[in-house]
Amino acid sequence: MIKSKTSERKKEHIEICLSDKIIYEKSNGFENYEFPHCAITEVDLNKIDLTTKFFNKKINLPFLISCMTGGTNEAEKINEKLAIVASDLNIPIGLGSQRQALENKNLLHTYKIVRENAKNVPLLGNIGAAQIASSNKIVDEIKYLTDLVDADVMVIHLNPLQELFQKEGEINFKGLLKNIEKLTNKINIPFIAKEVGSGISKDIAKKLLDVGIKGIDVAGSGGTSWAKVEMVRNNYFNNYFSNWGLPTSYCVRTVSKLKKNYKFVLISSGGINNGIDIAKSIALGADLSASARIILKELFENDIKGVINLINEWFDDVKKIMYLTGVKNLNELHKIKLIKKSELF
Ligand SMILES: Cc1cc2nc3c(=O)[nH]c(=O)nc-3n(C[C@H](O)[C@H](O)[C@H](O)COP(=O)(O)O)c2cc1C
Repeated sequence: MIKSKTSERKKEHIEICLSDKIIYEKSNGFENYEFPHCAITEVDLNKIDLTTKFFNKKINLPFLISCMTGGTNEAEKINEKLAIVASDLNIPIGLGSQRQALENKNLLHTYKIVRENAKNVPLLGNIGAAQIASSNKIVDEIKYLTDLVDADVMVIHLNPLQELFQKEGEINFKGLLKNIEKLTNKINIPFIAKEVGSGISKDIAKKLLDVGIKGIDVAGSGGTSWAKVEMVRNNYFNNYFSNWGLPTSYCVRTVSKLKKNYKFVLISSGGINNGIDIAKSIALGADLSASARIILKELFENDIKGVINLINEWFDDVKKIMYLTGVKNLNELHKIKLIKKSELF
């Protein structure tokens, strides 16, 4: 049995995230938009194409299983099952923070198990801003971590709100951007920057793209609140900060404007729990969507088959929306202009 302070924390995170108490009170904002109905659609529902590319690899759906876990016995089982889902659907999958892989050799298999079970899909490694900012051998460490799991892409998670309310939190990110630039210059795989639920604004996205980041996962507000998760662990509650953050739809709509001047992958996540929000995300400018907590919950409740069915049901709805808006592929869905609810009445 593997036990350490960090692996205990990871175990607590999984348990707490299964409860609905830790979601944002505010929504991700997608309910404020409506699709333009196309009364003359000529789209054949059965011929709608949802395939796309994630960096260099072809994927079957514009969807990614978001970074969650690794570094505990529970995580190994979860990662194995999620990898089977990703492989079955041919979609990308993210690992949870690999910090533990730097600290404890006994835990390596809890991460490596993903590539073992998902040989061909894009695999995303993961490390936190605090580790990037504080290390003076970060290039070697990240090279080690990406090689370890055969990652196609490395994700850097930005989580100042979580660190602020975590007992063991590290709230000093000094040197972060400089070290990110070092990494993007020296390591030859794409880097994605993601939040964990408080969102990334257009200005911050621009700063990240300027230091060589090739993907932005906004991970906005409306789903899991990591302040709430840490507050449950601390038995402390503050309503203002537990709901701090920018809603996912706002982040996607504003960050996508940077596409005029930068080439990058835009991921919509944070409370994405259905196909409607996925289709709206793409219409607002995202290349793909991602979910975390709801996938974990479904895995615990209905195992691998349940998660595969859930994601397929979401994309059946995406196809229905594409039929009703008269678009036959993702490029056309990108170009749809959503209607703000306030304009309808
Ligand atoms: C159990 C659990 C563990 C997580 N661990 C990580 C992590 O290690 N690294 C990371 O970048 N994000 C992590 N996240 C955050 C998610 O990737 C995601 O950004 C966030 O939960 C918002 O998405 P959601 O509303 O779909 O849950 C975790 C989420 C969950 C539910």
